[in-house]
Amino acid sequence: MDFKEHIIDKLTELTGLDHKVVSDAVETPPDEKLGDLAFPCFPLAKVMRKAPPLIAQELASKLSADELIDKVDAVGGYLNFFYNRSAFITDTISAVLESGDKWGYSDEGNGKTVLVEYSSPNIAKPFHIGHLFSTAIGNSLARIYKFLGYDVQSLNHLGDWGTQFGKLISAYKRWGDPEVIEKDPINELLKIYVKFHEEAEKDPSLNDEAREYFKRLEDGDEEATALWKHFRDLSLKEFNRIYDMLGVKFDSYNGEAFYSDKMDEVVKILDEKGLLVESEGAKVVDLSDMDMPPCIILKSDGATIYATRDIAAALYRHRTYDFYKNIYVVGLPQSLHFRQIFETMKRAGWEWSKDCVHVGFGLVKLPGKSMSTRHGDVIFLEDVLNESIEKTRAIIEKNNSDVDDVDSVSKKIGIGAILYTFLKNSREKDIVFSWDSMLDFDGESAPYCMYGYARGKSILRRAEGIDYHDADLAKAVSDDSYTLVKQLALFGDAVKDAAAKYEPFYVTRYVTNLVKLFNKFYNTNPIMRNDVPEDVKKARLAVVDATCTVIRSALALLGIDVVESM
Ligand code: ARG
Repeated sequence: MDFKEHIIDKLTELTGLDHKVVSDAVETPPDEKLGDLAFPCFPLAKVMRKAPPLIAQELASKLSADELIDKVDAVGGYLNFFYNRSAFITDTISAVLESGDKWGYSDEGNGKTVLVEYSSPNIAKPFHIGHLFSTAIGNSLARIYKFLGYDVQSLNHLGDWGTQFGKLISAYKRWGDPEVIEKDPINELLKIYVKFHEEAEKDPSLNDEAREYFKRLEDGDEEATALWKHFRDLSLKEFNRIYDMLGVKFDSYNGEAFYSDKMDEVVKILDEKGLLVESEGAKVVDLSDMDMPPCIILKSDGATIYATRDIAAALYRHRTYDFYKNIYVVGLPQSLHFRQIFETMKRAGWEWSKDCVHVGFGLVKLPGKSMSTRHGDVIFLEDVLNESIEKTRAIIEKNNSDVDDVDSVSKKIGIGAILYTFLKNSREKDIVFSWDSMLDFDGESAPYCMYGYARGKSILRRAEGIDYHDADLAKAVSDDSYTLVKQLALFGDAVKDAAAKYEPFYVTRYVTNLVKLFNKFYNTNPIMRNDVPEDVKKARLAVVDATCTVIRSALALLGIDVVESM
């Protein structure tokens, strides 16, 4: 039964207003004491030529309680509805238990494909903290859209093309030691790349050599291609270690290189549409009427660039997937780049360019030297993940908790703590990493939420043998159980908000509040205590079970795996 829908129907009938008007007008009162749903009568004042408080009173007198509504109050210009608590709890808990992992699921996305491009690190360069931020958001959005029934494709647009690969090939041929590189590829490739720049300062002819190598690479020269592929494979092997730790999977690793032979067509289309103008030898799309610098398509030496590859990628994605949405999870510093390419695509007459969305995010600050760093400022992400796991292990061991598998539990909590930190606030906000708050078991953190789940599971384990599936759920009614169950009912809304705004933090905030309400519930509603009557115990166990299900589903949407005990 949909309580809200029931009230909207009643109001529609009574006021003669449009169903949609009523449904848009009803709201959740700011304070639960005011009721569960409110209808503001102000918009009716004009039509009915009466003061809103009077309208509210008249309507209230015409509305009677029924099996779903306990009472209707007129307060000021508002009509306040109070749900029948036993009916609401019974209805919601049985629905959650019946749907299980599907609670909150929707089929709004059926038949629609959503592309989520995220992570997208650069080959032979360190995977930096910004890439991790992108990975956390993208992975969560991909899960959220899947939950809403969309066909989701996770894309990793690797930075695997560009003149820097000419430099790397040149550096490798001069100083590369295959054995050393095999052992620690990214560090070693970075080292010779840095060395190349130092040496090229002294001897600029190195740059010509690098250009020559990149040219060979573009022309498909066998040796250059084999080296490039080797760097790419080595790098991917490293990146995959991080993705494995995070439980992240991609459907495609088509990076910039994949589009290198698909750009001629783009240049041709833009040219035919008369969009390309000459500027200092380069070919650009002039965007000055939008107050943007021009979008460079061909450099003065005829080489294509990042933007051209992105436009070719968008066209390819449109043709391959006929997407409903093409989402780019990339840091805010690239906002201008995306505005430029989207505008260029629009001018090319691609009406689907309106479905391309840049989902930006803020900067990550690492206070002091509290994070492991090597090589000056470069943060090695694997170190950060491992540090989180180790710190978690230390806490668990100190707490003497009766965890069987400390390794896997520390890993799930340690990784969860990092993901949660990225997904805790609105994504455009900058983040300051702090181990203390990330691993604060009492604060707003992954361990806090995961502990709520483990606590619920431990109660259910103690209740083994008690069958609560036939419980009289009305017996669970109390102030705290009611507030908790209302939160369970809101899960689907939180997921939809997160998808609509590309903001996983709606889910993070949702689950954190859910756990807070759950803690309050089991503190004021004893469950396994001897003096709790059997029927009450059963009803409360059902509430615990339903809550655990929703905590698990919500955390899964953030990419966080629960643990059964901690
Ligand atoms: N590789 C780029 C970087 O590390 C991010 C790529 C973003 N995606 C895109 N389609 N441009 O900055």
